[in-house]
Amino acid sequence: MVRDSRGNVIPCTKSSFVADTQGQYIPIHPAGTGKSGQVWYALSAKEAFSSSKPSPCQLIAKICAVKIFPAGVSLRTYENSKRHPNDNVEEVKAMSKISRIAKGDMMRHFPQFIEALISSDCHHEISPWLSMRAVRGFELQDMLLFARQLKTPLPETLVYHCYVQLLRGLEFLHNNGISKMDIQPVNVMVDADTTKAEITGLPNFVWIDFGGCKDNIDADNAKIQRGIFYDFIHRLAIQLHVCECEIEDKGRLQVDLCKQHDRLWQGFVRIMQMSKSTIGHDPISVLYKNDTELKVGGRLFNMVETKRRYIPQFDQAIIKALMDHTIAYTPTMRNKFPVEKDVEQAIKEFSQFVS
Ligand SMILES: Nc1ncnc2c1ncn2[C@@H]1O[C@H](COP(=O)(O)OP(=O)(O)OP(=O)(O)O)[C@@H](O)[C@H]1O
Ligand SMILES: [Mg+2]
Ligand SMILES: [Zn+2]
Repeated sequence: MVRDSRGNVIPCTKSSFVADTQGQYIPIHPAGTGKSGQVWYALSAKEAFSSSKPSPCQLIAKICAVKIFPAGVSLRTYENSKRHPNDNVEEVKAMSKISRIAKGDMMRHFPQFIEALISSDCHHEISPWLSMRAVRGFELQDMLLFARQLKTPLPETLVYHCYVQLLRGLEFLHNNGISKMDIQPVNVMVDADTTKAEITGLPNFVWIDFGGCKDNIDADNAKIQRGIFYDFIHRLAIQLHVCECEIEDKGRLQVDLCKQHDRLWQGFVRIMQMSKSTIGHDPISVLYKNDTELKVGGRLFNMVETKRRYIPQFDQAIIKALMDHTIAYTPTMRNKFPVEKDVEQAIKEFSQFVS
């Protein structure tokens, strides 16, 4: 039985994966799972068996992430709603639009969409799916877990960089009318591919999971989503800081990092906290106060945008340790980006499924 990092069973087996994708994708191993989807590292069969005979090493660069929405919900549900129980139409619409319009630097912040079988095109017994290029890294959530293990707060530079990159991505979505649901650390990937880095020494942050994203967001709702985002950044910013909250077990790294704070950091954390969206407590009026400072092009945004480019040596070492540690420590397959051996094995097994 396949399990993900949280111990949840992944009911989708390799053979059902092959059947669901009609032999178009070669499953390697699970990449992760969420509420409705199951994501697998996979190869396009067309690419793997192309006449140019690519080597396993060349195929590594072509690894995809295939998100399957397993079917198997009772027929009654289907008949009542007349819709497929696992509807991926909105997600596919959002992802293909993003891939179509994101150009240049913006491409760093979203996975590249490839193709899909959408629920409206298939019978309820068939699992809809979508495929995209795999991000070579791990969930931000994983990095936060390892930071806790190492007893270190995220260095300021990394938090600034995360804020700038993800907010630019969010603004891009909003400018194009797309909403972003489920803003949380499991839905952000940290890209460990250094060749794509905007700033040397800092990983790119990538938005994933466009389930529930609607294509008609208005200005007020965009503002509320920014509020949720500021809350998210605030949480990252204060995790394990001894300057912000009392922690029983103070590590040396925590104290050393907190000693280095300047006024920009204090202001950043305070304004982030004041600007978080408190759903139910008139979020819009709370946001009006600081949103102008915080949003792309605002005063605080611009200061932080500049500051993240000068990475103190101390921060550099911690960022490197966090990246290396998160990649190396692989209790489950999820963090384990496939290697050549996995590719070879997957192709061999696939041949057995289809023969
Ligand atoms: N492009 C990708 N590259 C690598 N891993 C990915 C990629 N997309 C998703 N994953 C992994 O799979 C996990 C689940 O993906 P995602 O968040 O899209 O699904 P979900 O939470 O089930 O979606 P939904 O909210 O629609 O149910 C992610 O948290 C991540 O670990
Ligand atoms: Mg998710
Ligand atoms: Zn601190």
